[in-house]
Amino acid sequence: MIREILAHPDPRLRQVSRPVERFDDELRSLVDDMIDTMHDAEGIGLAAVQIGVHLRLAVMKVDENPLRIMINPEYEKLGEPMELDEGCLSVPGVREKTKSRVDRVHVRALDLEGQPYEFEANGLEAACVQHECDHIDGHLYVDCLSNVRRARVLKRYRRERERAAERETRD
Ligand code: NI
Repeated sequence: MIREILAHPDPRLRQVSRPVERFDDELRSLVDDMIDTMHDAEGIGLAAVQIGVHLRLAVMKVDENPLRIMINPEYEKLGEPMELDEGCLSVPGVREKTKSRVDRVHVRALDLEGQPYEFEANGLEAACVQHECDHIDGHLYVDCLSNVRRARVLKRYRRERERAAERETRD
């Protein structure tokens, strides 16, 4: 089932998520919805907080890498800082250059059965891990920008939102 994605400045995006403790049908159904919602929005990653569920959980599908279900994820930075044209399904319609990600991370997470697993992510997938883990702690990528860049991207974002709202009232 496709769920509604919360958009900035919804305060629910700023809440810190709590660890997943129950590995049951409810969790599996939530993960299914997150995967459907991510694909529908043509995103490469989605954290549960983005659909208003405050559990430490994200899904990710970047290029040819496998679909990752990251429950209670943690990561270690291994690579070098990378420049990225970053965007977010919760700040739709705009992107901005960021330099706050590293290009290689080692990830530890649990799977749907609650079993620990690890993997190494590179490039865009590494950036996505960092982006989704930020969501889990209530952060958005625009927080990491300089004041000037943040003001600029949020101005563009507000303009996009106004245009979208106008389109909606016309239809
Ligand atoms: Ni995002």
